[in-house]
Amino acid sequence: MDSIRIQGGMALQGKVRVQGSKNASLPILAATLLVREESLIRNCPRIADVYSMVSLLKSLGCGVHWQETGIAVDSSQVCRCQMPREAVRGMRSSLCLLGALIGRCSEVVMEHPGGCVIGERPIDMHLSALEQMGVEFVEEEGSIRAFSDRLHGAVISLPFPSVGATENIVLAGVMAEGDTVLEGAAREPEVSALCAFLQQCGAWIEGVGSGRLVIHGGRRLYGTDFTVPADRIVAGTYLLSCIGTGGSVLLEQAPEEEMQSVLEAAAQMGARVCTSKEGIYVQAPGRPAAIELVTAPYPGFPTDLQSVVLAVETKGRGVSRIRETIFENRFRIVEELRKMGASVELCSPREASVKGVETLRGADLVARELRGGAALVAAGLMAEGETFVEGCAYIYRGYENIGRDFRELGARVASV
Ligand code: UD1
Repeated sequence: MDSIRIQGGMALQGKVRVQGSKNASLPILAATLLVREESLIRNCPRIADVYSMVSLLKSLGCGVHWQETGIAVDSSQVCRCQMPREAVRGMRSSLCLLGALIGRCSEVVMEHPGGCVIGERPIDMHLSALEQMGVEFVEEEGSIRAFSDRLHGAVISLPFPSVGATENIVLAGVMAEGDTVLEGAAREPEVSALCAFLQQCGAWIEGVGSGRLVIHGGRRLYGTDFTVPADRIVAGTYLLSCIGTGGSVLLEQAPEEEMQSVLEAAAQMGARVCTSKEGIYVQAPGRPAAIELVTAPYPGFPTDLQSVVLAVETKGRGVSRIRETIFENRFRIVEELRKMGASVELCSPREASVKGVETLRGADLVARELRGGAALVAAGLMAEGETFVEGCAYIYRGYENIGRDFRELGARVASV
């Protein structure tokens, strides 16, 4: 079932429930390592990256059980500090186990982490911050050995608000001796969710949601029952797909507050957006208006939704300009969209000019990464005729069941 077949050309209509957040679930699951008791993490999405994190935790000695509403993790018996090679290679977010494990075991061996092929993705900020907290690193045949006799607080300033580095510093900081002051922290809602989980376990973190975090380390943590917030990127994918097809959709439980930049972009595209306690309701005009879009760290427009905007604007009224400032390789879908008759020009490796066309035609496409893959499915919904998207394993890393969700909205989509 690695392909998705889409019979396009229909406007999305109806309502769909938004799954729990992938990027919040993964560091929170890693954080359960610090607790030494049982925690229940509710609303984790059933996606490949969460399954990988669960098997990583199991391999380290945690008791992990899926329940109807969530995942119970008992980390009282962690017995290993070496992460299995394959699991780490496939998933960049296994990197947040580094901060958690160094807090728990004082020594960790891991492969250089993998992830989507959307850019170079170095880990220098993670390593340098942890070094300032007393961690030493030795590179050994493709793996990294990290150890620390005494993990201690530090004053750290990040040159760029890296989400993963911020999460690692928070995870190590809650276990360190003394205070960690982090300037230039990422403000993404997923960082705040991680902090909220740790606070619920008894950690003392100040400045949550701001660019300056103060983590008072060394407090005992207790098991807790925590609900992961809804996924703003999945909600945004469906909202933008609705605009691409000229439909009207209610996104149940979509996290409106975290989606302001996306809602602003939707308004610029000519969509009518209303929010209520049920979720976000979006009603699209025929073809979207062209826009100027620049991705930026939160609260700016998320890089994870840039490809979907690009796909939607292939049918825009006029010329859109889209600039990517976070990852250098996020325009890999352009050649696929051209197979559908899209008119996209790369002005530079980081900027695309999209001249909207009246119709896209169905084509055989290949997904090469998670969000780009979802964007190709959105393009398939907007096209006349049949589209096949191959390589959907990437999409299942982040979307529970994109085919089911689009079918709920009336689309003709099948996994094949
Ligand atoms: C996280 C998200 C990803 C999202 C990204 C930016 C998860 C699991 N993934 O990824 O979906 O697209 O945030 O919002 O939460 N960088 C360095 N050195 C480092 C670390 C990062 O140069 O040590 C660079 C990266 O190459 C990239 C930029 O900083 O250009 C942003 O990366 P970062 O915020 O760390 O993204 P991730 O945490 O990997």
